[in-house]
Amino acid sequence: MSVTTTNKAVPGEPLIRFENVSIRFGDSEVLRNVSFQAEAGETKVILGESGSGKTVLLKLAAGLLRPNSGRVMIMGHDLVDMKEVDLLDFRRHIGFVFQEGALFDSLSVAENVSFRLREESASLQEIESRVRQSLRFVEMEQSYDKFPAELSGGMRRRVSIARALIDQPPIVYYDSPTAGLDPVTSQTIITLILRLRDLNGVTSLLATHRVQDAFGLANFVFEPKSGRVLPVWEDANGRHFALTKVLVIRNAEVYFQGETTELLKSEDPYLRQFLE
Ligand SMILES: Nc1ncnc2c1ncn2[C@@H]1O[C@H](COP(=O)(O)OP(=O)(O)OP(=O)(O)O)[C@@H](O)[C@H]1O
Ligand SMILES: [Mg+2]
Repeated sequence: MSVTTTNKAVPGEPLIRFENVSIRFGDSEVLRNVSFQAEAGETKVILGESGSGKTVLLKLAAGLLRPNSGRVMIMGHDLVDMKEVDLLDFRRHIGFVFQEGALFDSLSVAENVSFRLREESASLQEIESRVRQSLRFVEMEQSYDKFPAELSGGMRRRVSIARALIDQPPIVYYDSPTAGLDPVTSQTIITLILRLRDLNGVTSLLATHRVQDAFGLANFVFEPKSGRVLPVWEDANGRHFALTKVLVIRNAEVYFQGETTELLKSEDPYLRQFLE
């Protein structure tokens, strides 16, 4: 597949589609026949206990790991057969917020955020303007010259989001973006993700073990007109719903797929455990 054809989304295809994806490491099968899709503009929450394979799933979706079987279709292109050199280019469409942020301690905030741009032939002026724009979005422009060690956990998380957004990718993966953060800081991160979903139409996967993240995303929408986060509502034009659904992974398989409202009503003992 040539580099130029990978730059376009295939019309009519969902932006993210897993088809019977299985992956094992040695004897342990981490994911078995996982199938799901995310529609354009959706933020899909991947919910699972620690060790259930959430990070592995996101890495598969970015072509950082290859499955033993199945198809990983992103923007209609199968990552499984893609050559490494084409994958490198294809990843420009994907922002990845790694678990724990994964910032480079020896680089400043601006250098961390611009890291990907330096591989491109952008002018210094252009790089600075894009870095500032990205940092402004996460309300961290004042930390432009700081180093990661000088920032709180929540601030570091916001800088990693700014870094993932630098190329304005249509797809973003968030790996446990609220883990280890207090409730208020978690909410600011979820609000940022809401804005990206509702304002920019970014399609996402968000891995978490916190069911609150799923409700925070599914029960609220960002309304660009007022610039406010509002609860999902219903008016004469119908229900204004949030583009967020949930996929629960258990024992290497998809255990539940659907709306948070269904999850809430479920009487399944395993799912109830998550809710309590
Ligand atoms: N490169 C690898 N080689 C071998 N085993 C791996 C590799 N990557 C992941 N695993 C195994 O796959 C399983 C799932 O790991 P993964 O990191 O995806 O879990 P997770 O759901 O993200 O957990 P957490 O919530 O703690 O981040 C674990 O048993 C892990 O040891
Ligand atoms: Mg993980």
